[in-house]
Amino acid sequence: MAAKEAGSVAQAPACLCVLCGLPAAGKSTLARRVLSTAAQLGWRATVVPYDDLIPEDAFRTRVVEEITNPAHTEWKSHRQAVLQCLEQFLKNPKVFAELPSSSQINSTAWEKCIQALQQPEGLKSDRAPLLFMLDDNFYYPSMRYEVCQLARKYSLGFCQVYLQCDVESCISRNQNRSQPIPTEVILDMVKRLEFPNPQKNSWEMSSISLNTTDDLSESDIQRVMELISSALRNLLSPAEDNTEQKEADRLKCATSVVHQADQACRRLISEAMKTARENHVPSEHMKSLAAQLNESKATFLHDLRKQFLQEVPFSQEEEIDVERVVKRAVDIFDDRKKEILSRIINDIV
Ligand SMILES: *[C@@H]1O[C@H](CO)[C@@H](O)[C@H](O)[C@H]1NC(C)=O
Ligand SMILES: *[C@@H]1O[C@H](CO)[C@@H](O)[C@H](O)[C@H]1NC(C)=O
Ligand SMILES: *[C@@H]1O[C@H](CO)[C@@H](O)[C@H](O)[C@H]1NC(C)=O
Ligand SMILES: *[C@@H]1O[C@H](CO)[C@@H](O)[C@H](O)[C@H]1NC(C)=O
Repeated sequence: MAAKEAGSVAQAPACLCVLCGLPAAGKSTLARRVLSTAAQLGWRATVVPYDDLIPEDAFRTRVVEEITNPAHTEWKSHRQAVLQCLEQFLKNPKVFAELPSSSQINSTAWEKCIQALQQPEGLKSDRAPLLFMLDDNFYYPSMRYEVCQLARKYSLGFCQVYLQCDVESCISRNQNRSQPIPTEVILDMVKRLEFPNPQKNSWEMSSISLNTTDDLSESDIQRVMELISSALRNLLSPAEDNTEQKEADRLKCATSVVHQADQACRRLISEAMKTARENHVPSEHMKSLAAQLNESKATFLHDLRKQFLQEVPFSQEEEIDVERVVKRAVDIFDDRKKEILSRIINDIV
């Protein structure tokens, strides 16, 4: 029932399946195999191929940008554009393959992606499950979480397949391709990759990993089909989103508090250094003072974050007064600073 109300999405259950892994880990191959199995079951299924949907030049700049500034990249806005296209389709599947007007997406590739969902001739039922396999690297949990949120919003199934593949195999497979990506990119992604971890992120519960160093076996495909079937039976509900959104807000708030406190502490430290200089503290003591203050600040900020997360209630509705929290905290650091400073000054007198 809930699915129907929220769901402008057809009458049929739908599932977003994230394929996560290094370049050349075998994602596209897996997607093709799953597609043909899904077709035999009468499902409507398609692959959402990020590399095809996002224009070539964005792909080229992606790497450099993500290394220098992973939070604000062109690739990120393209990634979100893909999800917007998907959302538009979910809202109104009848408007076939129409692109949002300011789309950054290759419309030919999008049409192809959506065309694949058309009912096979003769099969009239619109109860046939819908399956979208999202084919990108998805190496950060935050990238996958965007997909999960979309699944929640429209009461879809959500699952993830992590294709675990030897780096050497990925590199040699990639080099064999007509347009290989630079090896450094793969190596860099190895460092970044945080594969699905249901222990850490409860929303990643429906995840499996496949060893794709060798060819995929029939039982690998079976495992993926079972995962998707289970996700289709256990559609997400929009209500759950709330708690996680709150948790995300709380983390964001903690980060902001710590950041502001850090700035304030730096100012206090430089004041203390100035006072010490004015008191003609010799240079070896100045060094020791700097180190002690620095260390004290690091411990202080660490504790502040921990305490903030423990003490601010999870479900607190009202806005947190960040400024007040920061001020109270920084007063404590100010006392510690004075203590350290007076110890150094008194030591030499
Ligand atoms: C868009 O995608 C199609 C098919 O995938 C491809 O042939 C075409 O070159 C792409 N266009 C651009 C501008 O990348
Ligand atoms: C590279 O391509 C050749 C020819 O298509 C093939 O025989 C070989 O197995 C490929 N190697 C890898 C690592 O995929
Ligand atoms: C994956 O399979 C390869 C080849 O069968 C094997 O060498 C490797 O140890 C496996 N990796 C893991 C993590 O199981
Ligand atoms: C301050 O502490 C941080 C880590 O706590 C350390 O990386 C940095 O080198 C220290 N700086 C000084 C000037 O001692």
